[in-house]
Amino acid sequence: MAKKKNASRELLLVGDNASFQFNEAYKSLRTNLEFLAATSDCKSILVTSSIPTEGKTNVAVNLAYTMAAAGKKVILLDCDLRKGMLGHYLHMRRNTPGLSSKVSGAADWKDICYSIPRVDNLTVIPTGPLPPNPSELLSSSQMESLFEDLKSHCDILIVDTPPVSLVTDAAILSRYVDGVLLVVRPDVTTIQGAQLSKKNLEAVDAHILGVVINGYDTKKNSKKDGYYYSYNYYSYYGDDSSDSKKKG
Ligand SMILES: Nc1ncnc2c1ncn2[C@@H]1O[C@H](COP(=O)(O)OP(=O)(O)O)[C@@H](O)[C@H]1O
Ligand SMILES: [Mg+2]
Repeated sequence: MAKKKNASRELLLVGDNASFQFNEAYKSLRTNLEFLAATSDCKSILVTSSIPTEGKTNVAVNLAYTMAAAGKKVILLDCDLRKGMLGHYLHMRRNTPGLSSKVSGAADWKDICYSIPRVDNLTVIPTGPLPPNPSELLSSSQMESLFEDLKSHCDILIVDTPPVSLVTDAAILSRYVDGVLLVVRPDVTTIQGAQLSKKNLEAVDAHILGVVINGYDTKKNSKKDGYYYSYNYYSYYGDDSSDSKKKG
């Protein structure tokens, strides 16, 4: 049954098949993070949210792809040792060796670092077999030194995690990274959920870099704020959307 549930989940990926607006949103996230990196040390970024299905894994993957496309050496690490989806989204076999295999000593770096065909600069590390004790494993000293090793081998480390309002894993991991991105999704995230996530992260002094609004419907919200206007502006120059076709 769990297998069926996962099978219906999909990765909406940046690139030629995605809309101009979707690609542009990730480029803009990348630019904002680059500005942050210019003023503070921000080489490792943890992605979390309050509950499942808000799009943490989608955001982590797309951010990794977008950073890698700009020539940054990126490592994307799946630390959701409860329901890791990275391997599924990237078409890896179940129980492919990964993070848990390295921490338990069952695998070496070369066994758990994967590249993606036609994607340069990106290394992916899936969860490995899901352990019975994720929180203990994530708070172990091996995990801390593993993070140090990873950071020294890339320009940017992006870490996918479980929901921070439900389990402590993301809060534990926030100690090992420079900053945290909190994902919210309209119609999925509640204000209370977002507030609890912020509180849980602040309780461990996590450095919250900002909030990613995933799945924001710019057209639906066009009358409420200026985002749609600004994307419309871009589309007039660069997009082949129906809007610009009409104008042409
Ligand atoms: N912006 C979005 N628009 C539409 N569907 C989305 C969006 N972001 C995520 N989803 C869908 O929601 C589901 C959960 O996404 P996922 O990234 O696995 O969430 P999480 O990691 O927070 O559990 C997937 O089926 C995914 O395709
Ligand atoms: Mg996920």
